Amino acid sequence: MQQPPATTLPDATIPFRRDPYGYARRTADALGTDVFRTRLMLRPAVFFRGAEAAELLYDEQKFTRADAVPGRIGSVLFGKGGVQGLDGDAHRARKAMLMSLMTPQRMEALAGRVREGLTERLARADDLCVGEVARDAIAEAVLHWAGLGDLTGEAAEKKGREMSRLFGHAADAGPVHLRARQTRRRLDAWAAERVTALREGRAAAPEGSALAVTAAWRGPDGEVLVPEVAGVELLNVLRPMVAVALWVEFLVHALAVTGARPATEGERRTFALEVRRLYPFFPVLGARTRGPVSVGGMELPGDSRVLLDVPGTNTHPGTWRDPDRFDPSRFEGAEPGPFDMVPQGGGDFGTGHRCAGEWLTERLMLAALEVFADRVAWTAGTQDLDLTHAAVPPRVRGGMRIRVLGAAA
Ligand code: HEM
Repeated sequence: MQQPPATTLPDATIPFRRDPYGYARRTADALGTDVFRTRLMLRPAVFFRGAEAAELLYDEQKFTRADAVPGRIGSVLFGKGGVQGLDGDAHRARKAMLMSLMTPQRMEALAGRVREGLTERLARADDLCVGEVARDAIAEAVLHWAGLGDLTGEAAEKKGREMSRLFGHAADAGPVHLRARQTRRRLDAWAAERVTALREGRAAAPEGSALAVTAAWRGPDGEVLVPEVAGVELLNVLRPMVAVALWVEFLVHALAVTGARPATEGERRTFALEVRRLYPFFPVLGARTRGPVSVGGMELPGDSRVLLDVPGTNTHPGTWRDPDRFDPSRFEGAEPGPFDMVPQGGGDFGTGHRCAGEWLTERLMLAALEVFADRVAWTAGTQDLDLTHAAVPPRVRGGMRIRVLGAAA
């Protein structure tokens, strides 16, 4: 069986770093293929894209997640010993613990707090940066929701800023990365101590809260998690919720660019789906082949590093009509298939690595849309609304600033 075509440039590290959201799509288009070989940091790597490739990535018999994400990024973003690096039964058991937090009532309670926190903050300011206000409102709401409600106001906002450093700078280089690494160590120690304090009766947490659940959970071996790993799982819940602030910023960016004001729950849902499709947070999902794997009539050798191109899959012309057009109506009466768009992974929540917080993300985005599309009148003025995709995650150049005009009429 033939191998996938190779890039002419022997190593893609520099072009991929320069354009993490466009490199794979551009290269695949130029080679006329959905799968190609190259090298990253001199080691062989395969990029692929599309729903079929996404489905393949979730085949546990063929791919493993162990060591899939470069250590320097994974250790800051995920920490050590968490659900992301587990496979098989160990993964399923840990994932079920995290999914047990996602009951409709608990998700609605959090969305309600975020909606109120945002509305209050918007009422207090007139000129503001959406991402920062959303981060502060979400951090305070989420800490309360997770059983850490003793942290409020400035203390909660400080924790939110620290957590945003983990996903905001994990992939950066130099001193910014080193600072994120230090922050990770501090947050790991803090989370482990909160778990220990609860176990030793020095603190309390409401039943069913993320702190109570991660501290008390017993794995298939009947043992509780060591405090460091329970803390990593607690942060696995807190950190990405704060990250939703970036998608709130992108929601407002999309509202500003399109001038749309989705008014019904259904319109808000399709608008949020289209934002998640066209404003991906992560550029790739990584895995390794266990043995030789055939894809699109080509063979990948065993122990290959593979990277699923997230924007390339979210805009694959085989799945999406007029793929680059922002058009929420494409989702009217048409739910995306489990692998059609992968901004938070794809497939099954329970058995695969698909994001544990996808339903919650959607609820938080709907709450934010209610505020920005319905409750509050604002203007983005004449600022530059260009997005920069050179960083991971992408950003609105200079931040998404708005001027609040008052309550919506
Ligand atoms: C900005 C919003 C978010 C984005 C862009 C995002 C994205 C992702 C992605 C791409 C994955 C990996 C999928 C894979 O490897 O197959 C993932 C996994 C995960 N996400 Fe999210 N996520 C977000 C919000 C959340 C929230 C709110 C939570 C809260 C519980 C969460 C918890 C997790 C966990 C625990 C995993 C690991 C799942 C596993 O390995 O089985 N995420 N997320």
